[in-house]
Amino acid sequence: MGAPRHRDRLFVAFDLPGALRDELARAGRDLAARCGGRAVPAQNLHATVAFLGDVPAARVPDVAEALAAGDGPPAPVCVGALRARPSASRARLVTVDLDDPYGALAARWAPLAQAVRAAAGLDADPRPPWPHVTVVRLRRPARVDVRTGWYAPEQMFDLSRVTLYRSHLSHEGAPRYEPLAAVPAGAPGPGSGAAP
Ligand code: 2AM
Repeated sequence: MGAPRHRDRLFVAFDLPGALRDELARAGRDLAARCGGRAVPAQNLHATVAFLGDVPAARVPDVAEALAAGDGPPAPVCVGALRARPSASRARLVTVDLDDPYGALAARWAPLAQAVRAAAGLDADPRPPWPHVTVVRLRRPARVDVRTGWYAPEQMFDLSRVTLYRSHLSHEGAPRYEPLAAVPAGAPGPGSGAAP
């Protein structure tokens, strides 16, 4: 038998400006305190473009290179209301959708998703893009009332940086997302604290 082939759990996401992450983390904490579930901590909030799953380590450089397909001008987005998914009576997630009034996010999203999936050896995802941020996760489906008194910020936020993350799962708490590469290039990932 040969040595086990190493794989990395990868995903690609648009990073969020720090002010938006803080606001969404607060909304998630308030909701989790009332409804249960685990709030996603601010440093783990992002808009996932492509979850690639366990990718052979040998492909990681190609996936990092494919990030260039997502480069482009900053995309102004608005934040929607909190929503329980897939339903309020059996929620597994609470999310906010990102509204993309000028289509700037979509223009970067679709080519990026396709490029990184192809580089990871995956087929194109037939589902329509769903720009969103998950703020609470529930282990078991539960009834969740998202009417908390939290209101989505009215201003727009620019999404700019796209990052390739390696996900390290933890039995105790939140996973750790390790930034591997980013476009625009620079210190990758929200862990750096720098807003895009
Ligand atoms: P989401 O929370 O935005 O829906 C890192 O784990 C990211 O990849 C998560 O933020 C999650 O996206 C997405 N993800 C994790 N596991 C997944 C799975 N099995 N299928 C699809 N997306 C997944």
